[in-house]
Amino acid sequence: MKLSSRLQAIADFVPQNSIVGDIGTDHGYIPAYLIEKGISKKVIAVDISQNSLEKAIDFIKLRNLDKYIDIRLGDGLEVIKPFEIDTVIIAGMGGLLIRDILDKDWDKRDSITHFILQPNIASEALRKYLYDNNFEIIDEKLVMEDRKFYEIIYAKKGKDHIEDKIYYEIGEKLIVNGDPLLKDFINHKIKTINSILEELEYKTTEKSKSRYDDLMEKRKRLKAVLKKVESN
Ligand SMILES: C[S@@+](CC[C@H](N)C(=O)[O-])C[C@H]1O[C@@H](n2cnc3c(N)ncnc32)[C@H](O)[C@@H]1O
Repeated sequence: MKLSSRLQAIADFVPQNSIVGDIGTDHGYIPAYLIEKGISKKVIAVDISQNSLEKAIDFIKLRNLDKYIDIRLGDGLEVIKPFEIDTVIIAGMGGLLIRDILDKDWDKRDSITHFILQPNIASEALRKYLYDNNFEIIDEKLVMEDRKFYEIIYAKKGKDHIEDKIYYEIGEKLIVNGDPLLKDFINHKIKTINSILEELEYKTTEKSKSRYDDLMEKRKRLKAVLKKVESN
């Protein structure tokens, strides 16, 4: 089976012979791929929505993979036992929801070795959570799909720190790796900030002024990262 480039990049981070929990599985494509390619021995596919899970059930049955993929209805890690999986995938949700899923059940979270996370938004808050909670970001990758950027974070338990808080926003590993999409990604962020700044320019409330100053500061830091990337 062929995955979309976003799902393929997520699957590429999964270690060989792993036992995986795919939290928020929806269509069930990743579990099916991991079993069919012999990457995972077993996958537990979890979703909070019965509707979403029906899609996974149909797809997995169709491909005759029910023996290897356990499908469970539930919220986050709630339906996984400690040490039942060594790898977790939490993809296609907001960074705050991913953070909350990880933070809800420490026992289970800390029994997992590999964390493959793909926040659709708020990756900054998720990276901050990881750095503040004894995770180490091992690798990152950017993917462009349907004209949208996606950030994929591969983390393990460990100790890590950042020198500059802009690395909550732009994963440092993307710079180290010279990710081919990084320049476009930063330029896209600067463009978004520019259009918000234009809107805020004539607003006079304290809140707008403070937001304006924060964005000016963020843009300055993003430009500094861009300069660093361009000089590499
Ligand atoms: C947009 S889909 C992403 C599907 C797939 N992971 C992907 O990346 O393509 C998000 C899925 O997460 C599920 N979801 C949201 N919150 C959840 C939670 N707390 N626990 C389990 N699943 C959740 C939703 O029901 C939905 O099916």
